Amino acid sequence: MNKNTETDTNRKEYFRHKNTLLFNNDVLNNNLFDKEFIDLIVTSPPYNVGIEYNSNDDELSYEKYLEFSEKWMKNCYDWAKMQVPLEKL
Ligand SMILES: C[S@@+](CC[C@H](N)C(=O)[O-])C[C@H]1O[C@@H](n2cnc3c(N)ncnc32)[C@H](O)[C@@H]1O
Repeated sequence: MNKNTETDTNRKEYFRHKNTLLFNNDVLNNNLFDKEFIDLIVTSPPYNVGIEYNSNDDELSYEKYLEFSEKWMKNCYDWAKMQVPLEKL
């Protein structure tokens, strides 16, 4: 199945309204989307300052935090469309 079909429930669709779809999933999973699938990515990543999330350790070593940051940023870069005219958003 194409990873970008709307019926792929593995991506845990969280919210849908008109042409807006939000997914709740692990940003480290690089198989979630095909390349250049997402129009807009707004991030609020863990800052590794010791906040107690249920989802992740927020007190990684500096090296592990860089590794984590590089992975999620690469995935976002790959998933984002390169050029989106404003009238298409
Ligand atoms: C700085 S907080 C964002 C808080 C959010 N902006 C808010 O106002 O509630 C970082 C968030 O990243 C999430 N997170 C950590 N690792 C993640 C991962 N691998 N994939 C997706 N989200 C992750 C955490 O669960 C946490 O909610």
